[in-house]
Order: sequence, then structure tokens, then C-alpha cells
Amino acid sequence: MSLLEVKNISKVYPGLKALDNVSLTVNEGEWVAIMGPSGSGKSTMMNIIGCMDKPTSGEVLLDGVDIAKESNKNLTNIRRDKIGLIFQQFHLVNYLTAVENVMVAQYYHSLPDEKEAMEALGRVGLAERAKHLPSQLSGGEQQRVCVARALINHPQLVLADEPTGNLDETNENIVLDLFRQLHREGTTLIVVTHDPEVAEAAQRTIVLEHGRLVKEIINENFVS
Ligand SMILES: Nc1ncnc2c1ncn2[C@@H]1O[C@H](COP(=O)(O)OP(=O)(O)O)[C@@H](O)[C@H]1O
Ligand SMILES: [Mg+2]
Repeated sequence: MSLLEVKNISKVYPGLKALDNVSLTVNEGEWVAIMGPSGSGKSTMMNIIGCMDKPTSGEVLLDGVDIAKESNKNLTNIRRDKIGLIFQQFHLVNYLTAVENVMVAQYYHSLPDEKEAMEALGRVGLAERAKHLPSQLSGGEQQRVCVARALINHPQLVLADEPTGNLDETNENIVLDLFRQLHREGTTLIVVTHDPEVAEAAQRTIVLEHGRLVKEIINENFVS
């Protein structure tokens, strides 16, 4: 079953088509990578799928609902209930500890639960760093807090925009292993990356250029 059906979306800025008639279907439980040069429209696409932006034209069916036509209030609810977001820039609250940063996501979703937030940090190998502020954590550790925050509400769809862009190899592997685990648990993953190794971990890679989907590569060597 398809979880996401992007149908002929364009995003037009004055003098520029950030997305130009892009279509893409992602099945429930599928793991898709998005590659393409800087400025090719990857983040624009992720922001639209993640209910943070709307296309100028076209349809985006998420679980059968056209999110291109929903009100901003509904979009906030859909994002909260279904989607986990991981960015290259970590967007952690700098005066909250690691565990409190994870609890913020619970707060917006349902109820903060410190025990559950601690478990999520344990899952990303950060149980010992839970009381540290972001400034006291390395880049890799901060990104793992973001992953814990994205996963805390058990999203159906995880969207990651260059999640390993600022990470060393050790932390990149930790994040990739978490993605593999999520995939095995049935989570749908869409991951924007510049790194061929990160793309090869996915089942399928699509390539954007100048806002157009120009290539699709199936990973024959995919192992779950
Ligand atoms: N708010 C905006 N206003 C005008 N142009 C934008 C805006 N956001 C993105 N763009 C342009 O759209 C194109 C695609 O951007 P983006 O999706 O961020 O690319 P990528 O993530 O692939 O690097 C770029 O040329 C960028 O400058
Ligand atoms: Mg980008």
C-alpha cells in the first residue's frame, strides 16, 4: 500500500521553479533516499511532504489525505501524529537538557513522560548524557538527541534531511543502524543525503536536478 503519493507537484518562486512537476510514490514501510545537487529542490520536497510547506500546484496524498489542500492547523496535527523530522541543523532548544528536548516532542503530541524519553535516549546510546545541555554534547550526540526526539511518538513516516551531513563516520553508522532498525519495525523512511553510502543503505534512490526527478535507482544489494 502506498503511504505517500506525490502527484505532479511544482513549487514556484518568482523566476524559479524549485520543484517542477515531480511525482513520487512511496509504499508503507519503504526506505527511499533522495539525492541531487545543492539547490535541486530536495529540502523543498521534504518540507512539503513534512507538512511544513505547500506546493504551488499538484497533490500530495499522505495516507489518502491531500495535504496540499489542508488548513495549517490540520497540517500541524498531521505532522505531530504521523511524522518524525530529523534535520541537518539540529534545532535543539539550547537551555533544555537532552531528555527535556525529547520531552518537548511528547508535550506537543500527548503527555511528557520522562521514563519513555529516557528509553528513547537509551536507544540512541545517550542514556548517560540525558542531563547534558546541547552545548555540552558533540555534534554526533546532538544529532542522536534529534533522532530520539523524532522517534519518541512512534511516527509512521520519518523524514530526514541530510541527517548525517555534520557527523563523523562513527556517528553516521549509529544513525544508519537506527534507520535499519526502524525499517525492520515497519517505519517508512525518506532520507535526503549527499553521501552515496547513506543512499545505498536505502531500498531505492531518486535523484532531483533543477527541481525535476531525473533518475530512480533500485538498490539490488539492499539488506534489511
Ligand atoms: N523561500 C524561498 N524563496 C525563494 N527561493 C527559494 C526559497 N526556498 C528555496 N528556494 C530556492 O529553491 C531552490 C531549491 O532549494 P532547496 O529545496 O533548498 O534545494 P536543496 O535542498 O536541494 O539544496 C533553490 O534554488 C533555492 O534557492
Ligand atoms: Mg537542502
